[in-house]
Amino acid sequence: VEAPRRGDLPPEELRALARELADWISDYLERVGTLPVSARVSPGDVRAALPATPPEEGESMQDVLADFRTLVMPGITHWNHPAFFGYFANTGSGPGILAEMLTAALNANAMVWRSSPAATELEEVATDWLRALLGLPPGFEGVINDTASSSTLYALAAARRLAYPEVARRGLFAEPPGSVYASEHAHMSVERAVVALGLGREGYRTVAAGEDLGMSARALSAALAQDVAAGVRPVAIVATLGTTSSAAVDPVRRIAELAREHGVWLHVDAAYAGSAAIVPELRGPMAGWELADSIVVNPHKWLFTPLDCSVLFCSRPEDLASTFRLTPEYLRAPSGGDARDLMDYGLALGRRFRALKLWFVLRYFGREGLIERLRLHVRMAQELAGWIREEEGWELAAPQRFSLVAFRYAPAGASPSEVDALNLEILERVNASGEAFLTHTTLGGRVAIRVAIGNVRTTRDHVARTWALLTGAAAASTRSAEDD
Ligand SMILES: Cc1ncc(COP(=O)(O)O)c(C=O)c1O
Repeated sequence: VEAPRRGDLPPEELRALARELADWISDYLERVGTLPVSARVSPGDVRAALPATPPEEGESMQDVLADFRTLVMPGITHWNHPAFFGYFANTGSGPGILAEMLTAALNANAMVWRSSPAATELEEVATDWLRALLGLPPGFEGVINDTASSSTLYALAAARRLAYPEVARRGLFAEPPGSVYASEHAHMSVERAVVALGLGREGYRTVAAGEDLGMSARALSAALAQDVAAGVRPVAIVATLGTTSSAAVDPVRRIAELAREHGVWLHVDAAYAGSAAIVPELRGPMAGWELADSIVVNPHKWLFTPLDCSVLFCSRPEDLASTFRLTPEYLRAPSGGDARDLMDYGLALGRRFRALKLWFVLRYFGREGLIERLRLHVRMAQELAGWIREEEGWELAAPQRFSLVAFRYAPAGASPSEVDALNLEILERVNASGEAFLTHTTLGGRVAIRVAIGNVRTTRDHVARTWALLTGAAAASTRSAEDD
């Protein structure tokens, strides 16, 4: 057999390209704030610009990079833009980017301890540092998953196994129905996990929220009592600290008491707002989360770590591991000591070396650096909320919390459906400007615009400019409605 013509990139070529890309990345991050935040393409544009079939012969990397610049880049929405305020804004920070380069170069797979001991042990160290920064007790052990959706699925899988000890052997076929409780404002990943775990959509109980949009503990208590009386088995309660729509917080201490009373697993979804617990004066709303069985916090949301990095903390890690542990001969390895095999803590066998970027980020910023940045984000959100309160016709759609503001333009005399349409139009105008990117939600069935602050490059000027764009868009939308 002839030797293949193509080997990996020769070292000299790789070195030159890596240097070129290092320059490109640094330039990109320097000027990202001058680009239109959201992609200016229509569905299918990017695909149409690319060949439908793969190349027969290998191509030069210069050609590939040229196409990346001219064909791919126009279809990118710039999450690293300082005026990206959609969803939950985040940052792929420099230290995280550098770590990702190394992670790719090492290509280490942290499935079992032996498959890359440092990847496993750094994950233990970095998640334990994060635990300490968040003020959680040492009983919580962390593992890194791709997303909060996976973390929540795994936590609820452990809860289901405790509620149905025979589930691994017999499945759920002969079992009475079970249910999982979460606020009406919980993230959809909770319901998806419940459905994936075979509890059915009917096994997902949404609990009404009170005026502050946090779950009503009284309604939860009533739902639990009703289910128990009807022979439905409570499986888990999910408390959200920082809901997606408005960053509302559930009364986690009271919920923890109910969980204990009923002997059910308490999972806390703090995917976004959990990071705020690093800041002493922002930790108050989390009080009681230390009573949870599991907590998810996403450093890839508000902790300057590039996607993907979701930390699942569990105060009963053995219950999590025994939900998934299944070791075939080909993965058996002498590990010795108290080494952990991370594959036991979730469904993925192959695991990227994600701990490296979290460790880089925590070391680069340090506790003080994180506190200052998170504080600044909250202060900017509070200031924006103040402008909204003072401007005629504008209102907050929910109490302002953490670094999120949910609001709407509701001029006197407009009906609720007119206000909804108006706000969607305002949103489109602001996003079409390319200067800022915002997304919306509904609260109480009515449209609300969200500004989520989470990028390390965001300054007060970016927020002020966005506010000017919003008020300008409101005036333009009102004028065009009058012209109609
Ligand atoms: C409160 C909350 N939980 C969970 C998620 C899901 O996060 P992920 O995209 O990591 O699955 C989100 C996403 O925004 C969220 O806001």
